[in-house]
Amino acid sequence: MNVLITGGAGYIGSHTCVELLGSGYGIVVMDNYSNSSPAVIGKIESITGKKFPSYQCDMLDYEGFEKIFKENKIDAVIHFAGLKAVGESVEKPLEYYRNNLAGTINLLRLMKRYGVRRFVFSSSATVYGMHNTAPFTEDMPLSTTNPYGTTKLMIERILTDLCHAERDWKVALLRYFNPIGAHQSGLIGENPNGIPNNLMPYIMKVAVGKLPELRVFGDDYPTPDGTGVRDYIHVCDLAAGHAKALEKIDSLNGARAFNLGTGKGSSVLDVVHAFERASGVKIPYRVTPRRAGDIATCYADCTRAKNELGWEAKYTLDDMCRDSWNFIRKNPD
Ligand code: NAD
Ligand code: UFG
Repeated sequence: MNVLITGGAGYIGSHTCVELLGSGYGIVVMDNYSNSSPAVIGKIESITGKKFPSYQCDMLDYEGFEKIFKENKIDAVIHFAGLKAVGESVEKPLEYYRNNLAGTINLLRLMKRYGVRRFVFSSSATVYGMHNTAPFTEDMPLSTTNPYGTTKLMIERILTDLCHAERDWKVALLRYFNPIGAHQSGLIGENPNGIPNNLMPYIMKVAVGKLPELRVFGDDYPTPDGTGVRDYIHVCDLAAGHAKALEKIDSLNGARAFNLGTGKGSSVLDVVHAFERASGVKIPYRVTPRRAGDIATCYADCTRAKNELGWEAKYTLDDMCRDSWNFIRKNPD
């Protein structure tokens, strides 16, 4: 099977490219490199020893995008490309709606035109909103609190409507919890420019001395140590989840949502301590007020992915911290 991977040079996309090449899939990568670099393509090739076509292309450029469909026989699409910073989406809603929604609609129109009907979408646990109680199951009511999250929910609805209208589509909506970690080679991983928004990238920058201390956003949540609880999942487990979704996609009936998490919650301080154990580096931190929009506890019920995709996460928080540390140590800049 030949799989088009949009956003394939990004954090989760690059690990999924490695996983799919290792499992014998053919891949075609497209990315505009707005949040990644063409160098990632060479790294994927050096990890896997395989070459594949890659295109620098923006999803908003319909004609440029169409060229990929003209030049390659595509059997399925995994759609990672999108803007993903929650805070930025509040500042620049139009940019987020345009990029994520218009980009996805271009992609779906092209798939329709070229007879491609298998689609795996990067959704997010953010669609569970503020009012559900963990563990989250796929059929809980959905809502969002910021434009980024709303783009994910709207795309899920667009895909659900499309599957109702045209019965031959097969769509997996993969709701990721909190991906961290990196490939064990240390060649690919997440290293955002500037000051990171997310916990693990922030800890990694503190560990290599690029930032002085971590701010822990609130220690008065109703959780065991008062800090926020999340379901951290190794990016390689997540990548394996995409391979499983592709394997099972023809058995899906329309659009089906799957949680991809570990089913276990860890607090901010659990992560800090696990990272310190893995790296031997002390992470100085200071407790500050809560961050607006954060919930106390978010973790997945992963029963559906286990039963229907035959997928389960296997890496522990210690493994994730070891691999994040290995990556940032080798790529401090
Ligand atoms: P990432 O930013 O590393 O990867 C996204 C890639 O898409 C980047 O390489 C970027 O250059 C590319 N891109 C963005 N807009 C594009 C456009 N218009 N045309 C072509 N390429 C474009 O992010 P990631 O962490 O790998 O996330 C991948 C997907 O998973 C995203 O859709 C994200 O919203 C979703 N997701 C991520 C997380 C997370 O915590 N990382 C959690 C839930 C869902
Ligand atoms: N946190 C800190 N200090 C920081 C950063 C984060 O204490 O500097 C805390 C947060 O308050 C939260 C936890 O660490 O309790 C995790 O925060 P992240 O920003 O790493 O992750 P979120 O759970 O807030 O959000 C992430 C992605 C969203 C996605 C969501 C669910 O950023 O896009 O996971 O998948 F929707």
